[in-house]
Amino acid sequence: MSSAPPAIASDGLGKRFGRQQVVADLALDVPKGACYGFIGPNGSGKTTTIRMLLGLVRPDGGSCSLLGEPMPSAAASVLPRVGALVEGPAFHPYLSGTANLLRVDAADPTSDPATARSRVGSALERVGLSAAAGKRYRAYSLGMRQRLGIAAALLQPRDLLVLDEPTNGLDPQGTREVRHLVAGLAAEGTTVFVSSHLLAEVEQLCDHIGVMREGRLVAQGPLAELEGLRAQRFRLQTADVAAARGVLSGLGVQDASEATDGLAGSLSGVEPERIVRALVEAGVAVRGFAVVRPTLEEAFVELTGEGFDVSG
Ligand SMILES: Nc1ncnc2c1ncn2[C@@H]1O[C@H](COP(=O)(O)OP(=O)(O)OP(=O)(O)O)[C@@H](O)[C@H]1O
Ligand SMILES: [Mg+2]
Repeated sequence: MSSAPPAIASDGLGKRFGRQQVVADLALDVPKGACYGFIGPNGSGKTTTIRMLLGLVRPDGGSCSLLGEPMPSAAASVLPRVGALVEGPAFHPYLSGTANLLRVDAADPTSDPATARSRVGSALERVGLSAAAGKRYRAYSLGMRQRLGIAAALLQPRDLLVLDEPTNGLDPQGTREVRHLVAGLAAEGTTVFVSSHLLAEVEQLCDHIGVMREGRLVAQGPLAELEGLRAQRFRLQTADVAAARGVLSGLGVQDASEATDGLAGSLSGVEPERIVRALVEAGVAVRGFAVVRPTLEEAFVELTGEGFDVSG
């Protein structure tokens, strides 16, 4: 079985602005067909990475490829297959959504002018802007502007969509709509690379994830695999803390910490049933025993050293 080249790959990719190493030694691997969430706190280097991938910023070192072709050398042949939304494209404030998209379409040397109207019409419909198509861009809400940006990325059929924080600044309704739109595109088989600082968003939308921290990729892989980061913990309620601690360490459950009414710690791979049985057999009075899993949020805070904004 021959495997398709990854939709996005990079090796040792780095960028420095002045003295600040903004992106360092980045090895991205975005499989074809994935919906990949590129997540990290503000300033962690997501936009800079996206700009390098698209050939908008020159890396200091390393290499990257889109759809199996080296960037930026293959930009002319590969970029027409890539739709991108990066920090507010320049739309004309006094022109309507339709007129703006016609301008964008006309700037694409591969697009046939005879079919421009229908392309623009279906892109607008796709993002739910048909009713506002004749309205001036100036009068668009932030959500409508964001959607027009996505429509511009959808004028041509794309093999890869790169979206930098497409829900940034949107209200909950707009956020849901854009998320739904992106999920629909991913479901059709388009590879989607979407950045976000909202963990909850990426968790709902994506099947792959890459986590940035201070310019470095600290975790990457299928979401299901990263769920494994959520090691199970226990919470034991007992008055016999010292005795309980002895039993636990006998089972190989180390570094349990004292909680208000007992002990808490990592299960360290020991089955909870075994722990409870050993405690009872040793005469420890067990008032309560619970197994808890940290949320993905908690697991990621450990990875990134920072909290994520989980609202929205
Ligand atoms: N052109 C530039 N000149 C100087 N510094 C820059 C430039 N572009 C980005 N930076 C710095 O690089 C760091 C990473 O910025 P970047 O925009 O890539 O982060 P981000 O992860 O996209 O953040 P956000 O979530 O806020 O969009 C920041 O400290 C930023 O100030
Ligand atoms: Mg950014």
